[in-house]
Amino acid sequence: MMRTKPIIAIDGPVGAGKSTVARGLARELGFSYLNTGAMYRGLAIAAREAGIDPAAPDLEARLAPILAAIRINFAGDRLLLGGVDVTERVADPEIGDLASRLSALATVRARMRDLQRAAGAEGGVVIEGRDIGTVIFPDAEFKFYLDAEVGVRARRRHAELVAKGVSISLGEVLEQLRERDARDAGRALAPLKRADDAIVVDSTALDIPAVINALKERILSRSGVSKGLKRN
Ligand code: DC
Repeated sequence: MMRTKPIIAIDGPVGAGKSTVARGLARELGFSYLNTGAMYRGLAIAAREAGIDPAAPDLEARLAPILAAIRINFAGDRLLLGGVDVTERVADPEIGDLASRLSALATVRARMRDLQRAAGAEGGVVIEGRDIGTVIFPDAEFKFYLDAEVGVRARRRHAELVAKGVSISLGEVLEQLRERDARDAGRALAPLKRADDAIVVDSTALDIPAVINALKERILSRSGVSKGLKRN
């Protein structure tokens, strides 16, 4: 499909700053923003509500009707599942863990791929996830891979969770983060990895506005595709 505005893909591990950076960048460019991790989390909430055990041998068969019927929408910063606001449950570390487990399944990835491609097809969108530049939109006009040192990522994620009222220690967060990264990067299908043509941005020593600026500079400096971008 022809698009007149670019797709900006941002991939990376847990706590690299993807969500905050993607949201901020989208706002500055006047683009829309798609958080694909939240889509997997929405599915995890639906699976949990249906009482699905991720260890069940027939897990994919049990998930099939849920996948077929799932309706995930964003209303600003709110996540709607079948029209119901589930935002308060999205940050739950158990939901993140279940999302990561379910995201390794072929049927889950195929469904999410279709939903994500449909949502981003027209361009003018910043999309964040694990496989956006590699699998979902390998032809994205801009691809970034956001990373940071693991201790820094754990501290950021810990602060985020504490701010949301989740009671958890830094050590636990570090352990969960390592486990989730290993699973997301180690799976057979669409694993977390840097696309060969992605620009790596290490946010270890950068704050959010600095990262947003670094990405924005890259985007606005490339003439031709910067048509249709809003300059502030
Ligand atoms: O970005 P996040 O932490 O909200 O993502 C939750 C999980 O969803 C993550 O551990 C792996 C999965 N995920 C994925 O497999 N592919 C994506 N594009 C985004 C998330």
